[in-house]
Amino acid sequence: MYGNYHASNLRQLTGTLPACSHTRSVLLLKVRAPRSLDAVEDRYGHRISYLRVSITDRCNERCSYCMPRELQEWLPRDGILSFKETLRLVRVAASLGVKKIRVTGGEPLTRRDVLPFLQELARIPEIDDIGLSTNGTLLARDVTPGVSMASALRAAGVRTVNVSLDTLDREDYQQVTGRDFLPAALAGIDAAIAAGFELIKLNCVLIRGRIEAQLEPLVEYAASRNLLLRFIELMPVSTQEVLGASQFFPIAEARRWLDERYGALMPEPQFRTNGPATYYQLPASGQRIGFIGAMTNLHFCESCNKLRLTCDGKLRPCLGSYLEFDVMKVMRAGATDAELQRFFLDVVERKPQQHDFRDNYQPGRKMVAIGG
Ligand SMILES: C[S@@+](CC[C@H](N)C(=O)[O-])C[C@H]1O[C@@H](n2cnc3c(N)ncnc32)[C@H](O)[C@@H]1O
Ligand code: SF4
Repeated sequence: MYGNYHASNLRQLTGTLPACSHTRSVLLLKVRAPRSLDAVEDRYGHRISYLRVSITDRCNERCSYCMPRELQEWLPRDGILSFKETLRLVRVAASLGVKKIRVTGGEPLTRRDVLPFLQELARIPEIDDIGLSTNGTLLARDVTPGVSMASALRAAGVRTVNVSLDTLDREDYQQVTGRDFLPAALAGIDAAIAAGFELIKLNCVLIRGRIEAQLEPLVEYAASRNLLLRFIELMPVSTQEVLGASQFFPIAEARRWLDERYGALMPEPQFRTNGPATYYQLPASGQRIGFIGAMTNLHFCESCNKLRLTCDGKLRPCLGSYLEFDVMKVMRAGATDAELQRFFLDVVERKPQQHDFRDNYQPGRKMVAIGG
């Protein structure tokens, strides 16, 4: 009955929304929040049905575009949402129409007890789709004798996995990720295939000077395993040295390379995977390839249906904006579920029309700290 509820209905409410890092804002606490919704809509018509949940800032790799190479200072344990707290916030989001969760990090599989957490997540009735983003390096490990992490994730209710794979060249992989883990990542992808996920996507960040030699091998590798390959433009959520124009490789250029090698790619505007990727098919084989062009696709934000929850308890209405709101603080101060619902709605109300990446954006936080 509340389907398509509009967050601006809450404008008249009053109170304090604490700890936005760049703005002081208002949380509005007088009007009763609705008990359940099909989806909440922001001021620009984005219907919010998807929450990306980061469960750790830690990682076993050091990708140059994501985190600094030097020794990391990890967040202290009590600065991270406990799984119990995360589950409570997901339930609140689910009561407002969120149906899809993607668990990410840092590297989510480095966090202890990730499996029981995912099992609990899968028990939330409104959540009908759980995905996980991973670098793949821990997927093939046995969690109990004869049972791989990938199989255990599938059994826990994870439907899809996105695996980062920027290159098939071992030395190149080591240079990009700071670790000699390509064999582990490839074993992890095979373990994911064996585990029977509904969909496995390979995510490759485009970096000029590296990607040219890897476009074709990655396409062939994805085809040989029937995986959905996506190329992602480098976003300015990273360390300065990879932000230069010289490293940026636009998706249009990747498509041109593929056109030359495989024949003109055929657009598939009707095919979508719950995100901003646009898809094309190779003419001869029909292989589908995705392109995520946050920097050059001017329609990138139009269909955005997401909020993000960082592992340190900040709700972010947009990856490419400085806005973030400290929901952990209000929760730990004793907020009720109804107050947390209103907090979510107020954040939705502040969702920008589009990201600020094209506007000389200087990263306030690294990708690893936000959750990609
Ligand atoms: C931050 S990672 C977290 C999950 C997991 N560790 C992984 O590597 O997939 C999620 C995704 O963000 C992407 N990513 C990180 N930094 C990026 C950047 N500066 N630009 C574009 N994508 C980036 C990664 O390639 C990865 O696909
Ligand atoms: S992209 Fe993923 S694997 Fe690479 S450093 Fe970031 S969190 Fe770790």
